[in-house]
Amino acid sequence: MNILVLGSGGREHTFAYKIAESPRCENLFVAPGNAGTALIAENVAISVNDFRAIKQCVLENKIEMVVVGPEGPLVNGIYNYFADSSSLKDVMLIGPSKKGALLEGSKERAKEFMMAHGIPTAAYESFTAENLDEGKSFLETLQSPYVLKADGLAAGKGVLIINDLNEAKTELENMLSHSKFGEASSTVVIEEFLDGIELSVFVLTDGQNYKILPTAKDYKRIGEGDTGLNTGGMGAISPAPFADESLMRKIEDQIVIPTINGLKEEQIDYKGFVFIGLIKVDNEPFVIEYNVRMGDPESEVVLPRIKNDLVDLFEATATQKLDGISLEIDQRAAATVMLVSGGYPEAYDNGKEIIGIEHIGDSIVFHAGTAVKDGVTVTNGGRVIAVTSLDTDFKQALKKSYRNIEELYFDKMYYRTDIGFDL
Ligand code: AMP
Ligand code: GLY
Repeated sequence: MNILVLGSGGREHTFAYKIAESPRCENLFVAPGNAGTALIAENVAISVNDFRAIKQCVLENKIEMVVVGPEGPLVNGIYNYFADSSSLKDVMLIGPSKKGALLEGSKERAKEFMMAHGIPTAAYESFTAENLDEGKSFLETLQSPYVLKADGLAAGKGVLIINDLNEAKTELENMLSHSKFGEASSTVVIEEFLDGIELSVFVLTDGQNYKILPTAKDYKRIGEGDTGLNTGGMGAISPAPFADESLMRKIEDQIVIPTINGLKEEQIDYKGFVFIGLIKVDNEPFVIEYNVRMGDPESEVVLPRIKNDLVDLFEATATQKLDGISLEIDQRAAATVMLVSGGYPEAYDNGKEIIGIEHIGDSIVFHAGTAVKDGVTVTNGGRVIAVTSLDTDFKQALKKSYRNIEELYFDKMYYRTDIGFDL
């Protein structure tokens, strides 16, 4: 069958890489893609939010399956756009409906969903400019550090964790009254700080059945030792070594099952990924966020460990037959290290030639922000390349990635040398 992947990052290159391995995939398209996807698929110069152009591309190329990478088009309702179109309604689209995507699109909605379905999460209240003063009083009832979350999508920047009470009050006012994150912070969720170690759990659901995919831990801060600004992610490992059987049982019973049942009870069409961000506090899991897509760079360590044909898995998702699939997981650990442009997550330059990719042997190079310019592969984003390796444990896998990274070079290339340092 012909398949389209929407997106242009490392996550989408990983999807394309796995789908291209499937004997069931005839023609693979990626929109808009990057220099890596161009090697294994046809890149189509269409923005992920241009639904009319996507429709035209799907019809022209007789595409039967669309895999949505990022959250934007999901929150904007691409599932409903397909479902409501007579010519697209039979195309299998992997991703939730607009109502389902609100679990990521609105932090307040996610909290209400968790409360309604008894899913463990931090205590919270939400506020708008109208009740700013109540918000400040609420902060006084909490202990430092203070967690402020812009309700809407804010490109991963909408969460502030602040030690000082007065600074927290000022930031609350900046968010609510001075649009610090634009429309996204017109509502702010203030929640209790949870002290523990983070992990991510990925679930694929067809709306009735679900499969729990391998866990992962990502490293979001730009600096060594988890310091400095937040990024999209500087590296990841899978599985999270501390996610033992007893913790996973709690996560399934207290979080995954109530989440899937909650979607069913609320009659939400959901055929796609649920990415659950968790903090483990004294061996008890709490949800800090839902995402309605796979993670990036978590995809680069989770998907290579799935041995099933991804096209079979997605078809079962779209046709509500996931119960007939048994997951086969590679027991090796995976690690990925992200090479980024100097300056990221603040200003950086594009267009730097990337040297050495052809020398990488026993790691997989997933392109994130790359493009081809005059026949040369160049940087085209903050996060440029993810180097993934599989081995007996995450330390060995990391060693492989770091050894292979020595073959790669671009001007002002930066990466963290301490992924996994805390484990
Ligand atoms: P989010 O965008 O919701 O994933 O939040 C970004 C980061 O803020 C998370 O990865 C956590 O490190 C941190 N965080 C979010 N909520 C909390 C919380 N309630 N307690 C402690 N840390 C949190
Ligand atoms: N790496 C975090 C995310 O994809 O949201």
